[in-house]
Formats: sequence, C-alpha cells, structure tokens
Amino acid sequence: MKALIYDAAFDVSVKEVPDATVERPTDAVVRITSTNICGSDLHMYEGRTDMEAGRVLGHENMGIVEAVGDGVDRIKVGDRVSLPFNIACGSCDHCVQGKTAFCLRANQAGTAGAAFGFASMGDYAGGQAELLRVPWADFNSLVLPEGTDKELDYTMLSDIFPTGWHGVELAQFEPGDSVAVWGAGPVGLMAAHSARIRGASEVFVVDQHADRLALAASIGATPVDFSAGDPVEQIMEATGGRGVDRGVEAIGYQAHDSSGTEDPTLALNQLVAVVKATGGIGVVGVYLPQDPGAKDDLAKEGRLAFDYGTFWFKGQGMRTGQANVKAYNRQLRDLITSGVATPSFLVSHELGLDEAPAAYKKFDDREDGWTKVVLHPGELTTAR
Ligand SMILES: NC(=O)c1ccc[n+]([C@@H]2O[C@H](COP(=O)([O-])OP(=O)(O)OC[C@H]3O[C@@H](n4cnc5c(N)ncnc54)[C@H](O)[C@@H]3O)[C@@H](O)[C@H]2O)c1
Ligand SMILES: [Zn+2]
Ligand SMILES: [Zn+2]
Repeated sequence: MKALIYDAAFDVSVKEVPDATVERPTDAVVRITSTNICGSDLHMYEGRTDMEAGRVLGHENMGIVEAVGDGVDRIKVGDRVSLPFNIACGSCDHCVQGKTAFCLRANQAGTAGAAFGFASMGDYAGGQAELLRVPWADFNSLVLPEGTDKELDYTMLSDIFPTGWHGVELAQFEPGDSVAVWGAGPVGLMAAHSARIRGASEVFVVDQHADRLALAASIGATPVDFSAGDPVEQIMEATGGRGVDRGVEAIGYQAHDSSGTEDPTLALNQLVAVVKATGGIGVVGVYLPQDPGAKDDLAKEGRLAFDYGTFWFKGQGMRTGQANVKAYNRQLRDLITSGVATPSFLVSHELGLDEAPAAYKKFDDREDGWTKVVLHPGELTTAR
C-alpha cells in the first residue's frame, strides 16, 4: 500500500510499504477514504518532537472497514467509521471513566495515552495511507451513516471537532458565557464553532492570518488581529474592560509574536490577562515536557514563566490535555447529521495522497488559503 512516511525534519514522502493487516483478534483494518493534515503533524514535521524516521503519519482518519479479527463483533466489513486519534483499550481505569486520551494500556508502561502516527504515543502506524490497522476496533470505531454524504464534516470527528469542543469544556463553559479563543487554526476555529453551538453570548478569535480570521467571522465570531495591536487590549476595549468568561488556547508551545519569534508563555499569559476573575481557561494547544528546539533553557525542559500570581489572584481555573475524542464524538456526529454542526466550513483543500508532501509544506508555511487539508488516498468521491 501507499503511505506518507516521516523521513526527517521538513521531509516527508509517499512510499510503498507492506499492507496493514489484522495482527490481533481485536483489530480491524480500515480502507481510508479521508485523512487530514493537522497542526499536531506540523510539530513532528518541523522536527520539534522525537518522531522516529520511517513511521507513517496520520491521526485524523475515517474509512470503510475492510477486514476484522475474530474477536471483533460490533463493527463489520463495509461499515463506514471514524477513528478517534486516541487509541484506547476500553477497559483500563481511565478508559472506563471516559478518559480515553489517557489510556493506561495502549502505550508503554508509565505513559498514559496512545495515538495513530504520533510522536511518543506508541509505535502505531498512522492513516495517511491506503489502509490502517485499528486496535481494539469495536471500542475505537464510531459507525457513521452509510455512503459518502457529509464526508468533509464527518472527517473532523477523529480529532479537531471534538478537540475544539473539549477546549470549551475544559474552560468550564456555560451557556451565555463569552469566550476568547487564541489561535484561528483548525482547532481554534472548531472551538469557536463549538462555543457558538453551545450558546456563547460572544466569541472572539485571535490570530494574525486574514484568511483564518475571515473564516472565524463567517461563523459569527469576532476576529481579533494580534498583528494590529495587543489582543488583550482589543478584547478589553470591546468588552468595556470586563474581559471574557472563558478562554481557549488553541496554539501550543510554538506560539509566536507577530514577527514570528516563538514564546511559549505568550498566549497563556494573555489568556490569564483577558479572562475575568473566577473565569476558566482550557488549553488544547500542545505543550511538551521536553522541547530541545526551544530558544531558552527553561522552555527546553517544558518549563514556562507563567503568570501564576495573577492567575491565582484572579481565582481562575485552567484545565489541559489531549481531547478524549470518544467522550464527544457520538453527540457531535449526530449534530452533523442533523445539520446543526458544519465543521467542513474550514476545509480548504481535498488532495490525493501523492500531493501530501507539497501540502505539508504549504500548510506548515501557513500559506494564504491553506486552512485544512483533507487527503483522499483512494478515489475522490466525497460530498459535503
Ligand atoms: N489537545 C488535543 O487533543 C489536540 C488535538 C489536535 C491538535 N492539538 C494542538 O492544537 C494546536 C493547534 O492546532 P491547529 O491544527 O489549529 O494548528 P495550526 O498551527 O494550524 O494553528 C495555530 C494558529 O495559531 C496562530 N498563532 C500563533 N501564535 C499566536 C499568538 N501568539 N496568538 C494568536 N494566535 C497565534 C497561528 O497563526 C495559527 O493560525 C496545536 O498545538 C496542535 O498540536 C491538540
Ligand atoms: Zn489532529
Ligand atoms: Zn485503556
């Protein structure tokens, strides 16, 4: 089968590799119809993780079940399924609590959480390929309506739609709250879409890319361009000095100023400043325990000069981490089916697998108009 391989920093290529197969009775093999490129892939692409050369990337996967092991009895060959980026066993202490992003059995002992095609998340192959092996397939597969309808909406169920929703949830959002989302990448846009669906009174989205801010405006959010001035001041002014009830961080440790200089404390401290006293902050942007590529010694060890005094004094709450996709994906699938949610609004490109290396470069450069790339390793037979 063809698959997208991580060769080295800024170097990925499509190669012929052995077909994915059923290795354990609880596995399925899925023929991938859609697999998206994610901002998380870019941390790996840029060589800012310990991703091993030779591995298949891709954690945002959906497709048609091609084969199942003897121990699989819920899903069947021919089912159209979405696969959460988290790989979870379904029976450990965390999985039974719904915290599938922190499964205790899917990764090596001592590390909670596993994922497809991801640095430090187990050695599972990713799905930017024709076929994907899915462990614990009955537990991990979400069955979708048959056919190809709403493919570009359902493909967002494997990661970014639940992740955006999770960011709002981590901020302890309640209907009527105002929300500020830092980052108008796919995850930030999904957080804004989620906040709107959940009944936010106002949603601000901060970024400096005009194309992404325009998408935020298209779903009813108020765009804030941080290259045009301090985003905290802009939001304070718009709220009469009150700030917002909730904040969502959707950038991660490679947050930067308008000239591109990285500062992993920047967005977190701006959120502490803009969220009201007693408010909540949800951090879904990725931060890592080690970042050897960081500019200063503190950040190389994942330590940040966080405004803890102000955070404490304001009595704020902050919750963090990978999204437990399975905690939300059924409900979000049904919101898509009923037409309430339309996460496909951010798709900018549908491409074949062979075009993936060029697409990684364009998306990594945040080139104008490259918001979200959906790869179709098979035929392009999708419909919105
Ligand atoms: N927690 C999870 O489960 C989970 C899941 C998926 C992705 N992620 C993470 O979410 C983050 C965002 O992913 P994405 O796909 O949207 O990535 P992305 O890189 O496309 O988007 C990030 C956006 O943040 C903007 N940005 C950078 N610095 C900023 C600043 N100081 N203020 C405001 N905006 C700024 C960039 O211009 C960019 O548009 C990444 O760290 C990714 O790894 C987490
Ligand atoms: Zn992702
Ligand atoms: Zn588990």
